[in-house]
Amino acid sequence: MKLSARDRTPGARRLAACTLLALGGLIASAAPPALAAPAAPAPAALAPSALAAPDIPLANVKAHLSQFSSIAAANGGNRAHGRTGYKASLEYVKAKLDAAGFTTSVQQFTASGATGYNLIADWPGGDPNSVLMAGSHLDSVSSGAGINDNGSGSAAVLETALAVSRAQLQPTKHLRFAWWGAEELGLLGSKHYVNNLPATERAKVSGYLNFDMIGSPNPGYFVYDDDPAIEKTFKDYFTGIGVPTEIETEGDGRSDHAPFKSAGIPVGGLFTGASNTKTSAQAQKWGGTAGQAFDRCYHSSCDGTANINDTALDRNSDAAAHAIWTLGTEPAVPPGDVYENTTDVSIPDNGAAVTSTITVSGRTGNAPATLKAGVDITHTWRGDLVVDLVAPDGTAYRLKSSSSNDSADNVIATYTVNASAEVANGDWKLRVQDVAAQDTGRINGWKLTF
Ligand code: TRP
Ligand code: ZN
Ligand code: CA
Repeated sequence: MKLSARDRTPGARRLAACTLLALGGLIASAAPPALAAPAAPAPAALAPSALAAPDIPLANVKAHLSQFSSIAAANGGNRAHGRTGYKASLEYVKAKLDAAGFTTSVQQFTASGATGYNLIADWPGGDPNSVLMAGSHLDSVSSGAGINDNGSGSAAVLETALAVSRAQLQPTKHLRFAWWGAEELGLLGSKHYVNNLPATERAKVSGYLNFDMIGSPNPGYFVYDDDPAIEKTFKDYFTGIGVPTEIETEGDGRSDHAPFKSAGIPVGGLFTGASNTKTSAQAQKWGGTAGQAFDRCYHSSCDGTANINDTALDRNSDAAAHAIWTLGTEPAVPPGDVYENTTDVSIPDNGAAVTSTITVSGRTGNAPATLKAGVDITHTWRGDLVVDLVAPDGTAYRLKSSSSNDSADNVIATYTVNASAEVANGDWKLRVQDVAAQDTGRINGWKLTF
């Protein structure tokens, strides 16, 4: 069995670099070097990379918070599910997005006898088959205005979306922003969205970033310990500004990323702490008050505009933009890594299925939506054959069915499989069964192109 992954590094460039090195060695004793410095590689030859995010103006984020505060004050002191303050908050966010060129939609659901609303905003463009989402819950509890929980996340996601518009960003991924209703009743809005997303649409969501409580008055800097690539993107931002982070442990699954995670979508997010107490070690590295809750006003009437730490809100808003820019504009993984198995496997006549295995390793994340399975089968009556691609978890994708009237020879074909619901690494099998008597054949080989 021969397994191989093609190396995409252009050999010619490597050779040229070696030649220069050798020359450098030859002339090392002669001073000054008679050769001009080697020219820098042409920019066109460099790998494309993600764009740098803009700074998110703290003043803009805070202006949204003061609007949420006014909305609560004008609507009985809260922005809770089923109350007028929720719908007014949604209209405020929606108007900003509409004016900025987003395609918005309001999704209704019923919870506890009241209508709930999710707001979804799509930024036109990007790869429709690779959607990067960011969201936050827009509802408060009924006891207060919910400025840290979760005006903070809602305002940061809004301002990030508006920054996308200001930059007229042309991301590689399609960007979708969401504001969820009824989170405080049990993640009801985000559950409703995920449950009502058709499986084909779900498979296109490459990641979901959640922002719930990111301006706590006695803040910690917590990063969700979920998808490694998303987690790294956030951590890289904080490393870059010299702020240590910790893994979020105040209740995994307690916010709107949970339904996405349950659906197999990579998730991540940021959090500055709720009712847990800041330790002295945490106060030492982050400042603030040890022995006190991260947010003493969590779920209470004092969660107003004064219940915000500006530095935390500023850093987390910038981190949100950094993640959207980095993950949203990174070049699509160049297709073309090929794995193959060229060992012959004979196919018994009208018999049991046979398989040929390709072990994929060293990749991250899921297989692509356009996984290519190249099949080379010799057979004297190919209508006898049923061919499946079996993913590492056992899910079978039918490549070819049997048909009594297809008397042609051989199956030499490349099938495109939407394997985006499958983890890339593991044992992939080509499963072939001959289901009718007389003609036989063999698998000559097959390959997977990621
Ligand atoms: N989602 C919770 C709320 O709105 C707050 C919360 C508690 C939280 N633990 C969390 C949010 C962990 C994100 C991560 O009441
Ligand atoms: Zn809450
Ligand atoms: Ca046969």
